[in-house]
Formats: sequence, structure tokens, C-alpha cells
Amino acid sequence: MGYYPTPEIVIGRIRSFIKFPEKDFSVLDPCCGCGTALKNLVHETKGKTYGIELDGQRYLQAKQKLNRVAKGGYEIATISNEAFSILYLNPPYDYDANGQRKEKIFLQDTQKYLIKGGLLIYIIPQEKLTTDLAKMISYRFGDIRIYRFPDEEYKDFGQIVLFGIKKKELGIVQKDVINMVNASNLGEKLEEIPCCQEPVYSLLSTPEPKIFRSGILDKDELEQCLKESTLWGKIKDSIKYEDNKIKNPPLPLHQGHIGLLLASGYLNGEMPGHLIKGEVIKKTIVTEEEEEDCTVTKEREIVTVTVKVLTNEGEIFELM
Ligand SMILES: C[S@@+](CC[C@H](N)C(=O)[O-])C[C@H]1O[C@@H](n2cnc3c(N)ncnc32)[C@H](O)[C@@H]1O
Repeated sequence: MGYYPTPEIVIGRIRSFIKFPEKDFSVLDPCCGCGTALKNLVHETKGKTYGIELDGQRYLQAKQKLNRVAKGGYEIATISNEAFSILYLNPPYDYDANGQRKEKIFLQDTQKYLIKGGLLIYIIPQEKLTTDLAKMISYRFGDIRIYRFPDEEYKDFGQIVLFGIKKKELGIVQKDVINMVNASNLGEKLEEIPCCQEPVYSLLSTPEPKIFRSGILDKDELEQCLKESTLWGKIKDSIKYEDNKIKNPPLPLHQGHIGLLLASGYLNGEMPGHLIKGEVIKKTIVTEEEEEDCTVTKEREIVTVTVKVLTNEGEIFELM
């Protein structure tokens, strides 16, 4: 799954570029691996760490290290837009099923979670910073700085670290595009990421994101969602199941709900005064249409719902 964790030495140097705020702030790594990189990035600051991880084992490890971790792909997570001070992005170095580079797709899809004025930290192989990608970055980010990994770490995948601040006004800046493409072509002549004496980027603070939910709910995620739900807090006692007592639902059922209960067979069996049986039947309707030089046969599936009732007078009728 393209797991290349950020080396510790690189995280230390990235940290030296950042002036962390005194107030709380939230940071996101949408492909956080085992969570170490993000944890170390904001270690001993007021940063709250949010990660997403597709791999089951690494998700479990990340849960031990980060404040919140969503299980599964970032593609199916639900997250507030413009909610994070840092987008830390070290995506898989790979092609997706459509032959597109994942480095680009991940940035395209997740940049929306960063606040305007927020800091992008983007780690990719140097040669993948193509003109195409450089234009995409320049459109949304300014104040760009690019460095390569230290010698020892650069050897394997030739990665660079690109810093950028999300702009308020969108638009490609030609000079930035040229600088990025040049940095991509410089190979190991590109400056190695230094350890800054003074931080370069002052980070904005952010409240906790209103929404941060995985597409796959596990028990812990579900508990967290329930804890955060004000509605659940209000109704949980009134619908608690105890002593086999059947309680009324918190709100009266609409006609549609009753129809679904009947159709699904939930109320099959005896009702006061009569018997009732719901049924859902799938039918295929075949039609033929003449086109210029051929006949097109179309099959359409429809679902019909019937509810049969036997009254206590012995009469049988269909409800729907
Ligand atoms: C290059 S590693 C980066 C790990 C970590 N961010 C770091 O820098 O140390 C990429 C990670 O992305 C995960 N991944 C791949 N596709 C993903 C997706 N669609 N959503 C979330 N995570 C994904 C992989 O399992 C892998 O752990």
C-alpha cells in the first residue's frame, strides 16, 4: 500500500520550520501509517492529531499515538472542510487504477481540509514534481519552499519536502511553477532540508474539527460518535431496552415507516383482529425499441410491495 514512513530526522528538521501557536490547533495526516510522523511533528505542542489509515494493522498502531484516527481510505471519510492548521501529506508513491499518480490525487482530494493560511507539508519523490503537479500546487499554495531529504534518507526514493501556505486568492504564479520544476530537475543538487535556527512558518490555531468520521465504523468510532451526538444524549434513556419491555419509538412512525415495516415482514403474523403479511417482489420488465439498424432490448428491474390482510370477518385484501 505504499508505506514509506517519514524518517525521524526529517520530521525533526520539518519541525524547525514551524512556529507553533500558543493556542490549540488541529493537524491532519490523511494517510498516517502507524501515526509516528504526525505524533512527533507536534510533540509537546498544543496540536491535536487526526489521522486516516487504510491498512488495518497500521490503523491500530496509529490509534495508540494520535488523538483521532479514522479507519479505511480517506476517500470514504467525512471531515469538515478548512478545519486543519497543517495538512501533512506523504502519500503512496504509486499509480491508481486509472493510471494517475497518487501523489497528485491525494493532494487534489485532501487540500480542502486545510484552512486558508494553513501549512501544507508535502513529501513526494523529486521526479514526480512534474509541471502539471507544479501548476496544481501553485494554483492553491504560495510561500513555497522545497528541499530534498538528507543524503542517507534520499538514497532510496529521492524524496523532497515541499512547504506551502494555502492562498486566499487562487491562481497560478508562473515564477513558482518554474521554481518547482527546476527543483524537480536539480536531483541531489537541490538543497538538503536544513535545521532552521529560526522558524519560517507561523502556524494558525484552529478549533477541533466539527466533523471527523471514518467511512467504516468500528466499535470505538461508534462510541465516539455517540458521545459527540447531542441527540443521542437526549433520547438514550427513553429508548433503553430493559426487562423485555417494548417501548415506543422516540417519535411517532410516519406512514412510510409503517409501510416499510409491513413490507419487510416485520409485522407478519397476527395483529389485533387480523393477520397481515408483507412481501417485496422483484420483477423484470423487458422492452424492445427499434433503432436505425437494430432492435435494442432493455431489461428494467422494478420492486413491488404488497401487503395482504386477512380480516376477522374472513375477508382477504391487498393494502398496497
Ligand atoms: C508513504 S506512507 C506515509 C505514512 C505516514 N504519513 C508517514 O509519513 O510516516 C502512506 C500510507 O498511506 C496509506 N494509504 C494508502 N492508501 C490510502 C488511502 N486511500 N487512504 C488512507 N491511507 C492510505 C498506506 O497504507 C500507508 O500507510
